[in-house]
Amino acid sequence: MFMETMWKRSLCVGYRPCLASGSRSKGIWSFHDIRSCSSPALPAGRITALEAVDFWKRHFEKRGVTEPEQSSQHIIAHLLGAKTIQSLEQGRLTEFLSPEKTEQVWQLCTRRLSRMPVQYVIEEWDFRDLTLKMRPPVFIPRPETEELVELVLTDFQRNPGMGLSASSQQTCLEVGCGSGAISLSLLKSLPQLKAFALDQSQDAVDLTRENALRLGLQDRLQTYHIDVMKDAETVLRFFSNTSALVSNPPYLFSEDMASLEPEIFRFEDHSALDGGEDGLNVVKKILTLAPHVLSNHGRVYLEVDPRHPPLIRDWVEVNVEELQYVETRNDINGRPRFSILQKEKSNKDHELDQD
Ligand SMILES: C[S@@+](CC[C@H](N)C(=O)[O-])C[C@H]1O[C@@H](n2cnc3c(N)ncnc32)[C@H](O)[C@@H]1O
Repeated sequence: MFMETMWKRSLCVGYRPCLASGSRSKGIWSFHDIRSCSSPALPAGRITALEAVDFWKRHFEKRGVTEPEQSSQHIIAHLLGAKTIQSLEQGRLTEFLSPEKTEQVWQLCTRRLSRMPVQYVIEEWDFRDLTLKMRPPVFIPRPETEELVELVLTDFQRNPGMGLSASSQQTCLEVGCGSGAISLSLLKSLPQLKAFALDQSQDAVDLTRENALRLGLQDRLQTYHIDVMKDAETVLRFFSNTSALVSNPPYLFSEDMASLEPEIFRFEDHSALDGGEDGLNVVKKILTLAPHVLSNHGRVYLEVDPRHPPLIRDWVEVNVEELQYVETRNDINGRPRFSILQKEKSNKDHELDQD
């Protein structure tokens, strides 16, 4: 199981797959892209799954496609109804593929040849214990975000009263839900939780809803198509007294966008990635809204670039009242990637509330 997860993770190219802000269609793979990607002819005779894996691995290598072996294995395993080649019985691998299956292999591998990420080619991906539907240009969840979810879960489980609202219902607001990976994982692990998930992208909101329905979690999730940069008023009108505010926001420095891998740059939504000049445009907006949206002692959990935590600490101290920087947490590779903050009402406000 561990090996399987690690192997799957190696297909997550770099950090962020991508597109120019607001130009959704630029990130969507088109039929033209695939046709212009000359595919090798279908084999004249019959071919086994193992032979197909080897053929496409070598073809991907020749054409400079990253992770050629994993790509080929993953696509063919998917078409045989498995998550990995290793989990298939030897007999399945050495029997001939039907002509229909062979054609499907050629179709999907040709998509990969256009540098479409495997996650979009096979239209699904695993995140923690969930299998999520994937569709371009909605951001593909990355492994480090599983660590962000773990942080939130641990806090909720250790401290069930954390930021509880007057209704005693644990609630969570996610800014920038993408495919729904974070909110749906939290809902799956916390049966008492109710979640609100918003995104500026209608594609993302639709995919989050679809994934919630597939996983049977739709009753505890409400989704909203909101751009927090433009519709702060709406956020303030809809949300208050939430226990936690979670976000993996766009946080790349704009100047780093040009060096992204083609898988990311051509297929994922640029507005999921580009955080502006210092990578903090959306982060600052979230932090400004946080005291109005959270219950007292409610927490903000952010995934950010390793350069961000000290900048966030300093910025909040000067610019946001009632929000304390609690701590920075490292990811599995020891890089400072997560910022945790907490709402602390001033004594004066607290006394007024009690009156
Ligand atoms: C890095 S992706 C994270 C997606 C998902 N939470 C995950 O971890 O896989 C950032 C998401 O924030 C959304 N987003 C970017 N700017 C936003 C804004 N101003 N208001 C709301 N959502 C925004 C993007 O559309 C994208 O879905």
